[in-house]
Amino acid sequence: MRKVDLEVLERMLYPVVPVLVTAEYNGRVGGMLAAWWMQASFEPPLLAVAIAPERYTYKLVSKSRKFAFNLLDYHYVDRMPYLGDVSERFYKNKITRAGFHIIRGEALGVPIVAEASAAVELKLVDIVKAGDHDIFIGEAVAAYAVEDFENGMWRLQEYKPLLYLGRTRRPGPVYRVYLTPKGWERREIEFARGDLKEASKRRIKVMEEIVEIVRQASSKEEAVEHVRRYLVESGLEEDDAELLVDEAIRRLGRK
Ligand SMILES: Cc1cc2nc3c(=O)[nH]c(=O)nc-3n(C[C@H](O)[C@H](O)[C@H](O)COP(=O)(O)O)c2cc1C
Repeated sequence: MRKVDLEVLERMLYPVVPVLVTAEYNGRVGGMLAAWWMQASFEPPLLAVAIAPERYTYKLVSKSRKFAFNLLDYHYVDRMPYLGDVSERFYKNKITRAGFHIIRGEALGVPIVAEASAAVELKLVDIVKAGDHDIFIGEAVAAYAVEDFENGMWRLQEYKPLLYLGRTRRPGPVYRVYLTPKGWERREIEFARGDLKEASKRRIKVMEEIVEIVRQASSKEEAVEHVRRYLVESGLEEDDAELLVDEAIRRLGRK
């Protein structure tokens, strides 16, 4: 082995099968792709996922205290930019606009993607602070799978899990790289392509402006107040203020 720069540690630890985390709060359904997830306990059955405060899904899960994991087949790889590049905050109903249909879990009524190969309904039990992400721990209360999951094991005849290998960095075009189950063939999907580009640019700009507001504020309370006003003026939801200030503080702390 040769020494690897910690800058690329994240990608060294891939490939990972990402899950789509879905949730709903205040009548709004959203979700995001997450590669940083794990099984955390047999009894009770716990699953964990790391979510950054900037994600709209962070609000949906922390406020509703329930969520779902969805496993998607590789067949849907072209739709991944809707789930993992744009934010529900700036691109409403991204899951249905990606062509998926929402159904409800029988146990908690959480939104689940009808096209998923498997799904788990989870009750939020804890949010553990980490670095720039927090770890959401959920207790599984119900699980569903297509028939390809037979006698407690995947046959992998129909379900071909999506495998994520990481994204290329700027300068240069940004691609998310996924592996096809056929001979580890690479598929490079352009980051936030097509009509997703505008929503992605606005997301970056709004976050930069919020970081600037936080940098100039003399206290966290003042920052939250200013960000609240900024969100209202920008046509966004004011109850995002605390989480976005939290994200900005973490970003400033990193520098
Ligand atoms: C394959 C993949 C894996 C990702 N894994 C995570 C993750 O584990 N945690 C996280 O906070 N963001 C992760 N992201 C980024 C979010 O999915 C992305 O920021 C998304 O647009 C957030 O959407 P939201 O604001 O609607 O919640 C991942 C993105 C991709 C494409």
